[in-house]
Amino acid sequence: MPKDSQGLLVPGIVSPRRTVPHHIPRPEYVDRAEPNEPDGTGDFYSPEELERVRAASQIAADCLEYLEQFVVPGVTTDRLDELAHNFLIERDAYPSTLGYRGFMKSCCTSLNECICHGIPDSTVLESGDILNIDVTAYFNGMHGDTNRMYAVGTIDTESQQLIDVAHEAMMRGIRAAKPGREVNVIGRVIEKYAGRFGYESVRDYTGHGVGRAFHSGLIIPHYDTDRFTDVIEPGMVFTVEPMLVTGSQDWRSWDDGWTIVTKDGSRCAQFEHTIYIGEDGPEILTLPASQRNG
Ligand code: MF3
Ligand code: CO
Ligand code: CO
Repeated sequence: MPKDSQGLLVPGIVSPRRTVPHHIPRPEYVDRAEPNEPDGTGDFYSPEELERVRAASQIAADCLEYLEQFVVPGVTTDRLDELAHNFLIERDAYPSTLGYRGFMKSCCTSLNECICHGIPDSTVLESGDILNIDVTAYFNGMHGDTNRMYAVGTIDTESQQLIDVAHEAMMRGIRAAKPGREVNVIGRVIEKYAGRFGYESVRDYTGHGVGRAFHSGLIIPHYDTDRFTDVIEPGMVFTVEPMLVTGSQDWRSWDDGWTIVTKDGSRCAQFEHTIYIGEDGPEILTLPASQRNG
């Protein structure tokens, strides 16, 4: 079911929609064709709002950490979606992707040559696979968005290097996000680092403002460009989420309208954090419990 004869992905079976208890507040866009985004409320957050984005971000980050023990050969991406869904609703968070522009699962599961937006389904993980899980939690009126890679069983050294470089590229992009610079500095640093290893940084999917809206309208490029000149200032919240590929970044979309895969079948790795810009520089809001103090 999950792979064709060359080991490339094919669509699996998508399970019925999971339900969310009625007491959990839903984002405005759920089950509407178009969100009210960009919502026009900008990318700046008061101290009180920051604490609410932080709470949503920590739930999403803790969910990714919780899932680690379950990402093993033999598990389906649908089972991982069920575990993510239950983790979020048990904490009174709404899974932001569920009902977003017609996406009907509680996380994205992007395997091997999938760049992003993979839909959890009956695909069975095998040793040697690399998987990205992207979780966004909506809690107390705020979205927190994060993703990371998981190695399934034993992976080859090339895949491990791709994962390590993608993580370091994200961290370098985050550290470059200092007040007074334009947001395009982030992409410049990321693409430059990826290039040292011969990897391309995907241009067509970007970071974004997040918090009151899932995608605020602010765009954070992951490549070197003179466009995207918004100045980074204290009080801002946005994501940094580079996707690096070992081959060509040319992509195609599956008929499901979501799944984005490399045309050449080369593998992709991505990491994502939601960050806050303080007076002195960036702070990562989506650190999991094991990496937080207090
Ligand atoms: N969480 C993804 C991001 O980082 C967005 C997923 S939208 C979905 O922006 F509809 F595909 F779930
Ligand atoms: Co995001
Ligand atoms: Co995300």
